[in-house]
Amino acid sequence: MTPDPLVTQPAPASLLTIFGATGDLARRMLLPSLYSLQAERLLPDGMRILGTARSELDREAFVAEVEASICERIPAHERDAGALRGLLERLDYQAAAVDDDASMAALAARVQALRNGDVLYHLSTAPRFYGPACQALAAHGAAGPGTRVMLEKPIGKDLASAVAINDSVARAFDEDRIYRVDHYLGKEGVQNLIALRFGNALFEPLWNARHIEQVQITVGETVGVEGRGDYYDDSGAMRDMLQNHLLQLLCLVAMEPPARFEPTAVRNEKIKVLRSLRAIGAHEVAAESVAGQYGAGAIDGVAVPGYAQELGRESRTETFVALRAHIDNWRWSGVPFYLRTGKRLPSRSTEIYIQFRKVPYSIFGGRTAADMRPNGLVIKLQPEERIELDLMSKTPGLDRQGLRLSQVGLDLDFHEEFASARKRIAYERLYLDAIEGNGTLFVRRDETETAWAWVDAILDGWRSQGLAPRPYPAGTWGPAAAVSLIERHGHSWRE
Ligand code: BG6
Repeated sequence: MTPDPLVTQPAPASLLTIFGATGDLARRMLLPSLYSLQAERLLPDGMRILGTARSELDREAFVAEVEASICERIPAHERDAGALRGLLERLDYQAAAVDDDASMAALAARVQALRNGDVLYHLSTAPRFYGPACQALAAHGAAGPGTRVMLEKPIGKDLASAVAINDSVARAFDEDRIYRVDHYLGKEGVQNLIALRFGNALFEPLWNARHIEQVQITVGETVGVEGRGDYYDDSGAMRDMLQNHLLQLLCLVAMEPPARFEPTAVRNEKIKVLRSLRAIGAHEVAAESVAGQYGAGAIDGVAVPGYAQELGRESRTETFVALRAHIDNWRWSGVPFYLRTGKRLPSRSTEIYIQFRKVPYSIFGGRTAADMRPNGLVIKLQPEERIELDLMSKTPGLDRQGLRLSQVGLDLDFHEEFASARKRIAYERLYLDAIEGNGTLFVRRDETETAWAWVDAILDGWRSQGLAPRPYPAGTWGPAAAVSLIERHGHSWRE
């Protein structure tokens, strides 16, 4: 992205140090993203990449692992041998364990030897290591000016643990040198939401409670817990998805126009939204939220086991959550924001649906009035990116029994429109921005903590009211109660 002349931006990183460089995220997302950036010649000239993890590997073994990960993810016909070589040449490896000070000292020394300017650390490890890793780097003189750190989610599992992690990292890095990842912000479709809202004059006058009836944000997944049972069971859909991805989407839909597309201005608007969220506490949880857990069922005709079976034990962790949120401010007063996310739903689908208010009066009368549907804007982010505007149109015919109307969609399919654009991994964008020192698409401390405070109240409410997740068969849209949650208010989920 072109740097904003009014915002001071640090120098591009001369060294990227990845903690957890042999881990699952690195293999699936991080290394393939770096390859793609290399292939497009977007990595700074001379930038080195230092992998670190507990395993005692030499450089050759690490390089071989990286090569295998890239080849697994990027098909041979899309791979460029020169680019792959170029990336591998940048690599180094240093084994280190956060709880072994001598190894951290050696890592810090290696960092100092390899850097030729700014350093970006990426902590792709369990969050309990964030504080200790940052402090070890600071103790060994490797966290001073010109260094910055990228942290993966989850930042903690509630407000208290998030504050503890943030405090601990803050002892080594100033806030403007901390880049908290929410990989949804790296998705093209999510950024397009910002472009749609603030690059068009059309929507803004309508973007408020006067014209919008309801908003829905759905992140549906067909996958189960995929071998991440231990992490997931301690987390659940609320902490794993809603606290971060869904609330970030909500912020981007609901925020006021930022003065500029730059980190402070964008985050200042997002935090106002989070602070305006009406609390859902013990008295409200039963009416305003639904938790679910999948049982055995079928997805696309294939039988899949239930959550407890996958996990190998009974559990009270929710794999689905739906809720009705309100943003108590002038723009959104009275507009419900329905959020839902779950695993083992019928389709992988991430979308935002804005339903406008219906026409104030129908000139068509009787039968035609019954055809009338409110206008809707659908911003589909996954699996494909599409924007659809639902409009009423005349049904063709001579109208002998009176004019009929049908709902039609004005459809913009980005994959058709921008057919030559490659589908990117979110980390390509996030890495490039962090390497260049642009924090706009990263999450600030106050955002994470405010989101936790809101989510904690709901989780506490479930606990104090003894609300256990309701079962739903895999391959369905969650428990029936999620349907009544919205239908009680005269709305229905867009399916
Ligand atoms: C992660 C969650 O943050 O997001 C996973 O931990 C989830 O449980 C994933 O599957 C979904 O991401 P995406 O990009 O596939 O929608």
